[in-house]
Amino acid sequence: MDTILATEDLTKEFLGFTAVSGVSLNVRRGSIHGLIGPNGAGKTTCFNLLTKFLQPTRGSIRFDGRDITGMKPAEVARLGLVRSFQISAVFPHLTVLENVRVALQRARGRSFDFWRSDKVLGQYDARARALLEDVGLHTHAHLLAGELPYGRKRALEIATTLALDPVMMLLDEPTAGMTHEDVDRIVALVRRVAQGRTVLMVEHNLRVVEGLCDTITVLTRGRVLAEGDYAGVSRNPEVVAAYLGTDPAISGAQAHG
Ligand SMILES: Nc1ncnc2c1ncn2[C@@H]1O[C@H](COP(=O)(O)OP(=O)(O)O)[C@@H](O)[C@H]1O
Ligand SMILES: [Mg+2]
Repeated sequence: MDTILATEDLTKEFLGFTAVSGVSLNVRRGSIHGLIGPNGAGKTTCFNLLTKFLQPTRGSIRFDGRDITGMKPAEVARLGLVRSFQISAVFPHLTVLENVRVALQRARGRSFDFWRSDKVLGQYDARARALLEDVGLHTHAHLLAGELPYGRKRALEIATTLALDPVMMLLDEPTAGMTHEDVDRIVALVRRVAQGRTVLMVEHNLRVVEGLCDTITVLTRGRVLAEGDYAGVSRNPEVVAAYLGTDPAISGAQAHG
């Protein structure tokens, strides 16, 4: 297997409480990998460890052939492991297009001169428009970002993340709080941005997980409970037991699956 991201015995303790415990995760290059589990399972902590926002208590992380365990968040991002919303926030008083232009400039390390010259900004226009097209926002280019509906705002966040040209994207609950229509749009978008890169996503909506993810790792209480494709993990009795009472979707999927 061509593994792009591998953790070994990844562990994080907070004052004696173990949030992530001995996690060995292997993500295949080019795949969409889902990380699921009940609330408090340690999913977000895992993401924070992978992007180096948290230092692990023990264990190691390798990304694209390098040991990144001791690196800083910015170094890891520069290697191409990027979490959506990590570096680029959405500025509500800038237009959609301006947001992406600023993200492109920051990606090139020129964050302090972006207000100086319209000419400089103009250079980024073509690339910014192409990115907006990729996320289906080209018709919204001149709206203020703050005026976008919620689902479109998440799409803009993904566009600003794509401005960094990530090798691997981490998405933490990209469809959280969305309407059906927005969920469908984000699913299509994730599928599109996953072409030519790797995606690791935390997602609660199991229909989304089923539709998108090649491989799924189930966490409970900080540990890996099961791993495999959707059909396999959703039939695993331990997974069903871990979810029962907390997420009717997976028990429902089990009942008719
Ligand atoms: N900074 C922290 N300090 C103490 N406990 C934390 C901290 N961050 C997370 N936790 C705890 O670790 C556990 C896992 O949290 P989290 O990773 O956010 O879970 P998930 O994203 O799967 O819902 C929870 O019990 C949470 O309360
Ligand atoms: Mg979380």
